Amino acid sequence: MEETQDLILRTLDEQGTIEDSRSLVLPTGASRDDALAALSSLKSRDMITFTTHKREFHVLTAEGEQIAREGSHEARLWNVLPVKGQGQPLSMKDLQQKLGADSASIGHRNAFKNKWIVKDGDGFVKLVSSIQDTTKDLLLEVESSGTLAAGKKALDELQKRKLITIKKDQWYTVEKGPEFSVSVIKMETDLTAEMLASGSWKTASFKKYNFDALGAPTMGGALHPLLNFREEVRNIFLEMGFAEMPTASFVESSFWCFDALFVPQQHPARDLQDTFYLSDPSTSLPPPKSYYDAVAKVHEHGGYGSIGYRAPWSDEDASKLILRTHTTATSSHLLREIATQKGGFKPAKLFSIDRVFRNESTDATHLAEFHQVEGVVADKNLTLGDLIGFMKTFFAKMGLDNLRFKPAYNPYTEPSMEIFAYHSASGKWLEIGNSGMFRPEMLEPMGFPKDIHVLGWGLSLERPTMIKYKYKDIRTLVGHRVNIKQVAEAFAVRL
Ligand code: PHE
Repeated sequence: MEETQDLILRTLDEQGTIEDSRSLVLPTGASRDDALAALSSLKSRDMITFTTHKREFHVLTAEGEQIAREGSHEARLWNVLPVKGQGQPLSMKDLQQKLGADSASIGHRNAFKNKWIVKDGDGFVKLVSSIQDTTKDLLLEVESSGTLAAGKKALDELQKRKLITIKKDQWYTVEKGPEFSVSVIKMETDLTAEMLASGSWKTASFKKYNFDALGAPTMGGALHPLLNFREEVRNIFLEMGFAEMPTASFVESSFWCFDALFVPQQHPARDLQDTFYLSDPSTSLPPPKSYYDAVAKVHEHGGYGSIGYRAPWSDEDASKLILRTHTTATSSHLLREIATQKGGFKPAKLFSIDRVFRNESTDATHLAEFHQVEGVVADKNLTLGDLIGFMKTFFAKMGLDNLRFKPAYNPYTEPSMEIFAYHSASGKWLEIGNSGMFRPEMLEPMGFPKDIHVLGWGLSLERPTMIKYKYKDIRTLVGHRVNIKQVAEAFAVRL
């Protein structure tokens, strides 16, 4: 670039202006782009000004070149034929031999169209005694002038026949600028502490800012499809007036995860095979005493209209620390807070989206660690109709408006419903959630009055993400199988 700049400045010094930059003999290795870069750089220092000229012109293709030299296929074909009666007519085979297969067939077709030749017996003879080879003439004109006097239509025609192609040329007229000098002064790009200290800033030349420069593209971060989808679901909850529950506690006590939810201590979900238990520490701090006693009592002996499980209560089981198996553990903390809040009960709508852990072997649709979308609504006299109504509104916002509800069983809800959505891609009904109305055995020990009903539900985040992003294997969403490129290029899901 420096060499090119020198060349430009020296030439300007000698000639005053450079009419046509194409007259410059660029240093070896310098490209046209380098020349433009040199010009732009000098212009940014006001050392020169330049104007850009652009021209489009046409050149011959290899085939065009051949026709310009040897004549068009039809002219060459006409040339080799005898005048009628003055020689042996040539057959197609003869022509192919003389001219080659391509020239014979194209030439034969065009010569007929031009009425230059005629059939005579099995062969062909000349019909006219002289011809005008316009194709060749036109090509010679393009070759010498880059264009055709006949205009665009004729040019297009030759281009369509692949005899010519378009070329672009760009050149510059260069003139001295207000800061012209023969040598390039080094431009400072930074005002440094040293320059201030030495006073050299007073005489230094500073490079102008180039506000037109496009920044180098940065490798930005990208939201993982799962997080993208989580954000969308979160927004749906927020626009429906829900508040987010704090879900940072991956480790829970069995009490909050199971007992508070009236899950019997003998329930299979609490087995080692289904739940991850902590070994160090292995037990939790005790929950509030009066609440704990009330929960133990309803399990063992019943109350609030229930006969309980009538099985011995184990403090040890309740104190075991686990990785939470569902975010309903968080809901139970929050519901208890709502039930005992100062100033009495206020209606609440809460949600959370966070990780849960289950001792499961993983496969294409199962993970041992996945996300749950959880919600609870607490208010006076809510009914199953409210739950169904909520589900319809909520899922419609995700684009799922064909739902079915199926009776189900949860230890902590009655009635309970599984929610199915029609997945048109597979033509199947997919289970997308589990829900219900929390039982009095769970709510009343927490301190809820009888007329306060609480709806709850839990969904997986991964399954709908898979559907939205068309992932076949759930394991490509998390863990070592995540494809970073796929993540970076994933579209932003719009529900
Ligand atoms: N906890 C349930 C699950 O993990 C979901 C659920 C939450 C069901 C709240 C009912 C009420 O599947």
